Amino acid sequence: MTGPGALEPAPVAASEVSGSADLRAVLTGLRRYWRSVVACLVAGLAAAALLTITTPRTYQSSMTFFVATAANAQASNNQVQADEFAQRRINSYLGVITSELLARRVIADTGLDLAPDDIISMITSSVDPDTVLMNVTVTDVSPDRSLVVANSIATNFDGVIGEVENRSAGTGIRLRVISGPTLNPDPVTPRTSLNLGLGLLLGLGLGVAQALVRDRVDTSFHSREQLARVTGVPVLAMLQEQSGSKQSPILLPRVGRSRLAESLRHLRTNLRFVDAASPVTVLVVTSSVESEGKSTISANLAQSFAEAGRKVLLIDGDLRRPRLESYLDLEPSAGLTSVLIGEAALHDVTQEWGPDGLEVLASGPIPPNPNELLGGSVMEQLLLKAREDYSLVIIDTPPILPVADALIVAAIADGAILVVRHGHTTGEQVSRSLEMLQSASARVLGTVLSMSPDSKGGSSYYEYETKPAE
Ligand SMILES: Nc1ncnc2c1ncn2[C@@H]1O[C@H](COP(=O)(O)OP(=O)(O)O)[C@@H](O)[C@H]1O
Ligand SMILES: [Mg+2]
Repeated sequence: MTGPGALEPAPVAASEVSGSADLRAVLTGLRRYWRSVVACLVAGLAAAALLTITTPRTYQSSMTFFVATAANAQASNNQVQADEFAQRRINSYLGVITSELLARRVIADTGLDLAPDDIISMITSSVDPDTVLMNVTVTDVSPDRSLVVANSIATNFDGVIGEVENRSAGTGIRLRVISGPTLNPDPVTPRTSLNLGLGLLLGLGLGVAQALVRDRVDTSFHSREQLARVTGVPVLAMLQEQSGSKQSPILLPRVGRSRLAESLRHLRTNLRFVDAASPVTVLVVTSSVESEGKSTISANLAQSFAEAGRKVLLIDGDLRRPRLESYLDLEPSAGLTSVLIGEAALHDVTQEWGPDGLEVLASGPIPPNPNELLGGSVMEQLLLKAREDYSLVIIDTPPILPVADALIVAAIADGAILVVRHGHTTGEQVSRSLEMLQSASARVLGTVLSMSPDSKGGSSYYEYETKPAE
């Protein structure tokens, strides 16, 4: 062992650092799942309230007996011995207090229409340790009846003990009531504040636990910082989820001045910066799995560039589940596959869309062998021609992980953007997609975090922080 002086500070500092990182992770998890934490808390409170409402109200009357040796008791010559004797006896008296004998006596005395077992179940008793004091409590749904029974016990208990001990007058042990019987006017059950407190604590504990577990298990992306950190490539934009309009297509002209429209313009601007660094004419939009917003982003981005005066060709390169046709209401007959099988020339099958001269090449009939067609020389020639005639070609593609099509197209394009769906695509899926793009020698321009909840609060701070000047 080396001296403690030199080594001690380092571990302390390290644990402090990891401690604050852990705390931050916990807080992030709680913030992400705060709704379910609140839901658990409310459920805990509701369960406690239900329990409180359904628990019958019960009342207690209590009294204390002093177990005294009679003045001329033969069992003891002095007080210490007398007390010891009483203490030994007192445990037997606990049994007598819940005996049928006493219960019958109470019934006869009070005239209550109850069975002995009913009386017995009302009674609890205890002894203060090392004393000769015995506490007896009578619990009942009726406060009056609990007091009646308690009074009867107070009156009859000493007599019953006398009988079972077979004592003659003036000898043996006597039980004197030294306090009570008194009725507690407040119900002893349900214990409303205890129930609610426990319900709240339990709900909160469960809520926090499930939030932390979910946060641990969830590797999806919730912020652009996290996406940038994990992928190591720039996040080009964070696009909001368009709530309310669930039906496709979600298109820029229709969303007008919404935050989504604004963010799409940021994406366009950011791509211009990328373009300035190293020109991108053929741009592939892809993602790890389906339904991440690829087709929606391709269409909106193409329209956005067309609006800005670029001559843009949008190609539906998803020859498995083409969506642009329906999103943009295109003529379904001919398209990319028609050109790839040599049935048509590019310009015969492009369709103009919208007021800004955007041209779109639909998918055409769905072929059985999409990746052969996309990887063939005709596709390369088509792109060569498109490069001559357009200043920007945007290709929508199928997802990377299930099929190779997107990788094939990305390899011959100038760059690809990887769409990552907020809270959905996992870290592993994104990492694998990036690896596959890299091994296909595709140039990954960056990622887009799509369908982010449109929180109007703090997140906009980050939004504008990274916003480039237009
Ligand atoms: N920003 C968004 N907000 C809400 N819904 C969206 C958004 N982007 C896409 N969607 C919807 O998600 C579904 C999948 O989008 P799509 O662009 O076809 O994804 P992909 O091409 O990756 O399969 C569509 O119903 C689309 O309308
Ligand atoms: Mg699609």
